[in-house]
Amino acid sequence: MTKNRDFDNFDEFAKDYRDTHDKSVEMSGADSDYFSEYKIIELLKHEDTLNPLKILDFGCGDGNSSRYILKHFPNATIYGIDVSEESIAQANQKGLSNVAFKSFNGADIPFGDNEFDLVFTSMVFHHIEHSLHQEILKEIYRVLKIGGRFYNFEHNPNNPLTRKVVNECPFDEDAVLLKPSYHKSIIDKSEFNLVKLNYTLFLPRHKLFKLFLPTEKLLSWCPIGAQYYIKAIK
Ligand SMILES: C[S@@+](CC[C@H](N)C(=O)[O-])C[C@H]1O[C@@H](n2cnc3c(N)ncnc32)[C@H](O)[C@@H]1O
Repeated sequence: MTKNRDFDNFDEFAKDYRDTHDKSVEMSGADSDYFSEYKIIELLKHEDTLNPLKILDFGCGDGNSSRYILKHFPNATIYGIDVSEESIAQANQKGLSNVAFKSFNGADIPFGDNEFDLVFTSMVFHHIEHSLHQEILKEIYRVLKIGGRFYNFEHNPNNPLTRKVVNECPFDEDAVLLKPSYHKSIIDKSEFNLVKLNYTLFLPRHKLFKLFLPTEKLLSWCPIGAQYYIKAIK
């Protein structure tokens, strides 16, 4: 990986990102599209799908999450930003309506104050040096409207299978995972109000487990889910 000073730039992975991702999650029984969409389905537990929200996909990569945001929030206006120009080029190839992608310097979000109803972030903070998290949170806070929501999805390092997948994934070579307690502490130190920390993905996605998947919604408190997310409000 071309190590940027402060964060991982995915330019070298952009072209094959989906294939690499699919391979790395193969043993879970689902593909990378599944993992992109499940997060947006989680948002539906908190948000009104028909609202004409202005949404920022921070660290959007190749735009796969934005694709599912558009599917589940058909009236939203969506912006995706990323430090990787190659990833933004891949995202633009998706030709999504109502979605605009652009690259930026990784520090200064290229939008004005109080513009967004919602900032969505997936699997980005573990690619940013932890000493910079507070600055990034400040920027995300700045671009959100009062009452705006911030959802930040991360891998759970407490789950041994997650650690195995991350350790073996080429684009996660330099990743430093965020412990849920650390994630909670940086939100507590910021100006955000922490609303929730929910754990997700407890069972493999193989057919055998399909019947049991609905029970997962009862487990969002249980700290061994493969991933988790925080919801915070400005
Ligand atoms: C694992 S990928 C996740 C992409 C996308 N969010 C998804 O879930 O499919 C991590 C992304 O974070 C981006 N990234 C790294 N540092 C960043 C920063 N400071 N600001 C925004 N994006 C960043 C990388 O370029 C890469 O596209």
